[in-house]
Amino acid sequence: MARMTQPGMELQELIAEMEQRRGKVEAGGGKERQDKQRAGGKLTARERIDTLLDPGSFLEMGTFVEHRGGRLMQGVEAPGEGVVTGRGTIDGRQVFVFSQDFTVLGGSLGKMNAAKVTKIMDLAAKTGCPVIGLNDSAGARIQEGVDSLSGYGEIFYRNAIYSGAVPQISAILGPCAGGAVYSPALTDFILMSGGSSYMFITGPEVIKSVTREDVTFDQLGGADVHTRKSGVAHLEYDGDEAVLLGVRELLSYLPQNAHEHPPVKETSDPVSRRNERLLEIVQPDQRKPYAMHEVIHELVDDGTFLEIQPNWAKNIVVGFARLGGHSVGIVANNPRVMAGTLTIDASDKAARFIRTCDCYNVPVLTLVDVTGFLPGVAQEHAGIIRHGAKMLYAYAEATVPKITLITRKSYGGAYLAMNSRDMGADVVYAWPTAAVAVMGAEGAANIVYRREINSAENPEAMRAEKIADYKDAFDNPYVAASKGYIDDVIPMEDSRARLIQTFAMLRDKEETRPYKKHGNMPL
Ligand code: HXC
Repeated sequence: MARMTQPGMELQELIAEMEQRRGKVEAGGGKERQDKQRAGGKLTARERIDTLLDPGSFLEMGTFVEHRGGRLMQGVEAPGEGVVTGRGTIDGRQVFVFSQDFTVLGGSLGKMNAAKVTKIMDLAAKTGCPVIGLNDSAGARIQEGVDSLSGYGEIFYRNAIYSGAVPQISAILGPCAGGAVYSPALTDFILMSGGSSYMFITGPEVIKSVTREDVTFDQLGGADVHTRKSGVAHLEYDGDEAVLLGVRELLSYLPQNAHEHPPVKETSDPVSRRNERLLEIVQPDQRKPYAMHEVIHELVDDGTFLEIQPNWAKNIVVGFARLGGHSVGIVANNPRVMAGTLTIDASDKAARFIRTCDCYNVPVLTLVDVTGFLPGVAQEHAGIIRHGAKMLYAYAEATVPKITLITRKSYGGAYLAMNSRDMGADVVYAWPTAAVAVMGAEGAANIVYRREINSAENPEAMRAEKIADYKDAFDNPYVAASKGYIDDVIPMEDSRARLIQTFAMLRDKEETRPYKKHGNMPL
């Protein structure tokens, strides 16, 4: 922007120039485009920052940055370079934030736009604070060519090298394409607003011209698709404001960086609150499904559970809660969906969550009720071995405190994949309803005693006898407890108190691993 004022001007004129320039930047792409944005039910880039942060805490940076020019950018105005960046606080804790402005060239990313973003990412890493990206961008700025690709490269690089060092959270608040989705995909969490945000690497028009497929924004990459089908996004909310409050809630379970512990939230929920309700929820009959969510709500502080990816791979439940004020990550089988068996998607979902907890010093509680990995050609051919291995790897790799509670059945490979003693659980508890075996008694008897059953005078009576025999031998928690695989069989009603006491015991746990550059996790 050319200077309107000349040397020798009065102070008031200099101040007026600054205010005039700032006003122009703050107006973004202008009233018409902002009205269009609001008519679509969206907030503007600056309104989003105000909603996200504690009032009055935002400190803007890079306010007067301009684009670099170039032949196709001659005469093009891009106030604020299409992104608002700076720092603020959430619940009094410092965070860095960038908010893409769709009213300025579709929030597209050019070299200097990227420089604003990387500047605050670097500050976040140096000061050990989370980075929050409010994404509303058409991707690489077409007019800037390779410069815009380079800009994305600089962001992706930082997303990767700061991964696990400081929490990175992405809110998707508009039609995001290309680099505007790959950067969020490199961060820890993606939150979307239903009906007004989309994620795709190429939009419907390009798809039509390449594959001739006719598809709407929603069908291609709406929040429904990414929170139910693809598993790309973690949480869906109704509108911008709800997403931004969701970011605040999510951060409350996480520390500022990998050196710190998550904040403690005082609660009036007594540590020793007895859990009689569990006796109604969980019945001894192994075939009777129950709501694992109810179990979780009963155990945790104030019944508050922030479930992550609640609508994808519903056979496993993951999310954050607190026990005695301390943040915990919960991984639980869901007996109501596919009998809680482990599938490819469930393994991916759990492994990713366990690793996220481990990065940010969130202890992990594993609630086990699982018959095994889902058998079938489709799962085998799609690589259940490769994906299931991620869960084994993630649990073994995690050095945070890890408690496993076996609520009912825990069979076969899934017994190991759900963090058994041998896979690194610090403490394993079981309820009297638990059963640990290679498989269920019916299946086991049919395999091991097939010949005796078939040759018996009364095969059904013999089968029943063998099933009872097997149940007696393994279908209970005491065999595993007698061998030290279970530390204690606990009264269900005492579970909350036990878990809180045991996590307190593990709070200062330290566990080291052999030197390596990094492990080679199966992907
Ligand atoms: C520059 C862009 C732009 C872009 C849109 N605009 N995309 N400017 N670079 N990539 C401008 C438009 O000219 C328009 O300007 C304004 O932004 C709003 O765009 P509309 O098309 O009117 O909005 P809408 O109908 O809501 O559609 C949004 C959209 C569509 C779906 C995002 O604009 C679109 O498909 N854009 C191209 C997406 C894309 O292919 N990006 C490159 C990806 S490749 P005016 O002046 O009218 O307001 C990439 C490389 C990195 O990102 C890959 C890393 C792996």
